[in-house]
Formats: sequence, structure tokens, C-alpha cells
Amino acid sequence: MTSDTPTPLGELLRLREAHLGKALSIAHGKPLHITHGSMQYLYAADGTRYLDLVNNVSHVGHSNPRVTQACAHQMGLLNTNTRYVYNGLTEYLGRIADTLPETLSVGFLVNSGSEANELAVRIARAHTGAHDMVVVEGAYHGHTGMLVDLSPYKFRGPGGKGEPEPWVHVLPIPDSYRRDGVDFPAEARLAIEGAGRFAGLLIETMLSCAGQVPLPEGYLAAVCRAVREQGGLLIADEVQVGFGRVGSHMWAFEESGVIPDIVVMGKPMGNGHPMAAVFTTPEIAASFEQMEWFSTFGGNPVSCAIGMAVMDCIEHDGLMARAEQLGGRFMQRLVELQDKHPIIGDVRGRGLFLGFELVSDLSTLEPATEEAGQLVNEMRRRGVLLSTDGPHHNVIKIKPPMVLNEEDIDTTLEHLDEVLTSL
Ligand SMILES: Cc1ncc(COP(=O)(O)O)c(C=O)c1O
Repeated sequence: MTSDTPTPLGELLRLREAHLGKALSIAHGKPLHITHGSMQYLYAADGTRYLDLVNNVSHVGHSNPRVTQACAHQMGLLNTNTRYVYNGLTEYLGRIADTLPETLSVGFLVNSGSEANELAVRIARAHTGAHDMVVVEGAYHGHTGMLVDLSPYKFRGPGGKGEPEPWVHVLPIPDSYRRDGVDFPAEARLAIEGAGRFAGLLIETMLSCAGQVPLPEGYLAAVCRAVREQGGLLIADEVQVGFGRVGSHMWAFEESGVIPDIVVMGKPMGNGHPMAAVFTTPEIAASFEQMEWFSTFGGNPVSCAIGMAVMDCIEHDGLMARAEQLGGRFMQRLVELQDKHPIIGDVRGRGLFLGFELVSDLSTLEPATEEAGQLVNEMRRRGVLLSTDGPHHNVIKIKPPMVLNEEDIDTTLEHLDEVLTSL
């Protein structure tokens, strides 16, 4: 068992240095020694309370009691794998299928978003008989070999080889702020037609690592048509934005009226317990039946109990409606702040998936990357955790546990106002 008594930070860092690979960096620049979490807050070893505006995994709150109890109860009763028949598995799959369009009724349960995206690509390849894939500029889809090749965020980023593999086709980013005036659907259609024969388009239904960019109106419908005309499948990566975060809908793709062929979900699914899934149609799932498929841990009874508890929290606590209401408040206050501070070039997002972009010049949109870093550090000093993202690391990301409250938002905005004034 690991010890509950906090080890001094210096010693923890020494052990990290000795035992962790250097490819893994520390969050929030200066090391933060966290000892426990409760709903929207994290507590540091020195007693400081931090409002967590970053962790979209702890969807229904850090250490949510309902989730913790469900886990402990099921752990004491049974944990096995999906080769056995048990209520939890079928009930959980049915519960998720009920949130999706009727056609997407077959689910595969795995342990991480990467595993789920990798599986989705394999399924698309099995169904279409094609190998190539299409992705969007700036996207991150996971850490496996195949997914690094499918993540421009990685292969074009530090340590990447810059150019895509020959089987990967990249759509330009439909960023209405930085690329104002472009006919995005027409541009995407051209690129998709140019890709020839491919298995599918893997796309986030709101771009996250690319800088919290909502897809322009009509974009998803247009790319979906173009993809199907080429014989490919539309794979919606809802790993960051799913499970009601956008407020108006359970899944971000629903806003567009488009029904994807495959939906991938992860992060918030187990509220921190490793869970992810792929849902598709019975027909597409049938194309994947030639080779036996099995995940040792995916869909085990403990995971299913945890997933059920997360769904209970979302539904019983009305968290989607809260995301819409709180997100609206956050957005409105950020827009007010934008009027006051010209460094805020753009405010965007839906529900509790928001971002604001810092620029040093409103006409050239010169990214204010350094200021974005300073803002994050100063907010942390004031007890609010934020992060930066986007190709220029100048977009401040907001994707908190969905259980935060009005007071958290108002306090954050007061701090932001002061920090922006001081920049
Ligand atoms: C959009 C998206 N897809 C997939 C993944 C991969 O998920 P995981 O880290 O659980 O493998 C991530 C992780 O950040 C992600 O943001």
C-alpha cells in the first residue's frame, strides 16, 4: 500500500528523476504536490486549496462519493472479465447506447482513449477494406504508434518528424478566428477528395489540443458527406468533449445533426478510473468479427459499476443543464473581460469546454504566448489551475469538473481581471 503521509517534495522529485522517463513533463510548470481532491478542488501538501479548471477527467468531481462507493462495493463483490456474463456489463452498455443515436448500438469497452481510437481505426479499416486515414491539423488522438502518426499535434510538434506518413491525410484547421473568411467546408471537401481511397476521417467534434476550437456551422455535415462519398467512415473522437460537457447535448456531434459511423469516448467515462469505449452500428461491428477481439480489463464489473455511477451523477445531479448554465455565465463574463482587455483576442467554446486566446496585436493576431504562460502561473499562485494549448500555446483552456459553482466562476473572473491588468 502507498503511504498517506506526504513525502517531502524534494524527495518525491528525486524519486521521479530516478524512476520516471523524461518524456513525461510536470503539469503547471512548477511541481504541485497534491495530496487529495474533493469535487472541483485539489488540496496541496501545504494545505493550499486549488480550484481545478483543467481536469475534464474528474467529470463529476474528484473523489466523488457516489463513484468511490460504487467502486468499493463492486470490488468487494466481483471483478472478472467480459468473457463471463454479468448484469453490470450489459446494463452499462445499454445505458450508454441509450444516450447515442439508435443506430450506434454496439459497444467495445477498453481502458484508454488511445486504445479506443486505435480500435476505431482498425474497425474502419476492416469495414472499408481501405487503409489510409484523414485527420485534422492540430489534432491529438493518442499515444500509441499509430495514433502519433494520426496526431499532427505530435508529428508536427517537438520531437516529431514534421511530415505525415504517406497513409495519413491532413485537413486544414477550420479555425474561424485565425483563418477568418475561409470557406471551410469547401476547403475540406477538396482535401478529402484529394485523399483518394481511405478508411475514415478521425475528428474531434470540438477541437481540443488544437486550441478549443468549435467546428464552424455546417462543417461536420459537409465533411461527413464528402467522407461517405469517398467510401470512408466518420469517426467522432468525443474523448475530451463527451458526456454532456457541451451542456446542450450528451455528445458534441449531436449539435451538428450528423450521426457518425463510429463514436469514441474516454476520459470522463470512469471519472479517473481507466475507461474508454467505441460504439458503432451492428453492420460495421460485424465487419470486425473475423479475428477474435478481447481486452483483459475493458468492461470489467468494477469499471461498469464506476461507469454507471458516473452516469447516475450526470443524470441525477442534472450536470448537463448545469454545464449549459455555468458555461453560459463563464462565457458571458469572459466576453465582458475581453471588452476590457484587448489582449483577449477571442473567447469561444460550448458549455464547460471553453477557451480564450491571447494575442499581442489584434490586427496581426500575434500570439501572446509568454503572457499566456504568465497568466497561468499567476492564477495558480492565486489558487486557480488553468492550462494553455493550441499550436502557439496562447489559448487558455477551461474544462473543469462539472460540479463547480457560480462562486468559483465569479472568483476566477475577479482574479483573471486583476492578472490581465497586471500583464
Ligand atoms: C481527443 C483525445 N483523444 C484521445 C486521447 C487519448 O486518450 P488517453 O490519454 O486516455 O489514451 C486524448 C488524450 O488526451 C484526447 O485528448
